[in-house]
Amino acid sequence: MLSLIYVSTATSRLPLAAVEAMADRAAARNAQVGITGMLAYNGESFMQLLEGDGDAVLATMRRIERDTRHGDINYVRQEIRYQRECPDWSMKTLLAPLSRMGSAALFTKSLPRSTDLDTRILFTSFASTVRPDIVAKIEERRQRVVLADMPVAANV
Ligand SMILES: Cc1cc2nc3c(=O)[nH]c(=O)nc-3n(C[C@H](O)[C@H](O)[C@H](O)COP(=O)(O)O)c2cc1C
Repeated sequence: MLSLIYVSTATSRLPLAAVEAMADRAAARNAQVGITGMLAYNGESFMQLLEGDGDAVLATMRRIERDTRHGDINYVRQEIRYQRECPDWSMKTLLAPLSRMGSAALFTKSLPRSTDLDTRILFTSFASTVRPDIVAKIEERRQRVVLADMPVAANV
């Protein structure tokens, strides 16, 4: 099984909702060809893990390379592994940059349990690298989501 990780830079500042929608479509397509993995976005760059049959991963990667929503692709890993790290995810999306004390530990916990240590380190350090204005934006969104989840009485 091929396990591939790359980082890339978003061409424009993609709204988080757009990244979520893109990952949902990607997940549906990946499921058809037996690809699993995860996609992290820190407001500026992507890090993606793709795992599955070598031909399927490479064919998907060729399409991803042509996608104009990002560029400057750098491969971090391309190797044979014997077990999937994200067996339950056609594409898990991780949108959390690390800005608060203890948030690195939280982020690491949100990674699938079967993620190997080297992959945890790669994704956690990627998610930790983020510009302060982007942290503020994502924090704002997180607050809105928390408020929306609260009972109506607590919202007024
Ligand atoms: C950062 C990023 C990650 C992507 N991940 C996937 C993916 O895992 N699987 C997938 O099929 N498409 C993924 N896409 C979308 C593909 O690039 C492409 O738009 C989609 O597969 C449709 O390709 P087509 O228009 O050539 O049919 C991703 C795009 C970006 C920008």
